[in-house]
Amino acid sequence: MKKSGYAVITGASSGIGMIFAERLAQKGYPLVLVARRKERLKNLADRLKEQYGTKCRIIPCDVSALEECKRLMQEIEDISVDIFINNAGFGDCCPFMNGNLEKELGMVDVNVKAVHTLMKLMLKRMCDNNYGYILNVASSAGLLPGGPYMAVYYATKAYVTSITQAVAQELKEAKSNVYVGCLCPGPVDTEFNQVANVEFALPGISAEYCAKYGLKKMFQKKVVIIPTIGMKVLLTLGRIFPRKWCVAFTGLQQKKKLCRR
Ligand SMILES: NC(=O)c1ccc[n+]([C@@H]2O[C@H](COP(=O)([O-])OP(=O)(O)OC[C@H]3O[C@@H](n4cnc5c(N)ncnc54)[C@H](OP(=O)(O)O)[C@@H]3O)[C@@H](O)[C@H]2O)c1
Repeated sequence: MKKSGYAVITGASSGIGMIFAERLAQKGYPLVLVARRKERLKNLADRLKEQYGTKCRIIPCDVSALEECKRLMQEIEDISVDIFINNAGFGDCCPFMNGNLEKELGMVDVNVKAVHTLMKLMLKRMCDNNYGYILNVASSAGLLPGGPYMAVYYATKAYVTSITQAVAQELKEAKSNVYVGCLCPGPVDTEFNQVANVEFALPGISAEYCAKYGLKKMFQKKVVIIPTIGMKVLLTLGRIFPRKWCVAFTGLQQKKKLCRR
């Protein structure tokens, strides 16, 4: 069934974001597709138009810049937004000492500042209408106490899970109909690895499964969404064992990635 309100997806040019776009197109949502690679967004928009008759607006945008985030919000001022998926993000894997400072601060800009800015600006709009869904794509990394050899990525995702849970509670206390939640997958087979320069130590799930599960739980208004049983068990154990053990265990897993490259 055709929907009138749009779904906006950042990081729609590949991986989980591209599948979010596909599934929301199937559900009849008109889309706003956001990422830096314009050609990929255009190809996706053309394919979704042909397959599902989806109305797509593409907005090439580098969300690492605050001004670009503000421009994005201005460009969608004229449309009604039902769903906003804050999905753009990336990681890096190496000992903190050896990491490239520019890349790390860029990660903070995309994974933290852009998610923060876009959630805030979108929330104000949605709260005025008392309707809408904001899904922040975090990671199971954000629910663990720390991730040696991927320290910055884990820290950025911890910010996302923390702020999302806090805002969701504020909305609940205000009896708002607006939803905010975070999707916290473990490894997912996407281009993430190439960008982070790693190979997963654990087998990844498909982007299809991840996005499908994420949307199902989002519509059920679940605040923290963990797509796999294995990761749920791991995170539960993480709450039982001392934090320093968990940090050491996570470090062992990340180190395996370093050894594989
Ligand atoms: N794959 C995993 O194992 C995994 C696990 C847990 C969480 N996640 C999270 O899932 C989200 C999606 O990642 P993915 O796995 O689908 O990886 P991916 O295939 O590399 O996709 C990342 C997306 O983010 C976009 N992006 C990156 N930097 C951007 C920027 N500065 N401005 C605008 N868009 C930007 C990329 O588009 P352009 O390059 O075209 O800009 C791309 O569309 C990320 O937040 C990631 O942290 C991934």
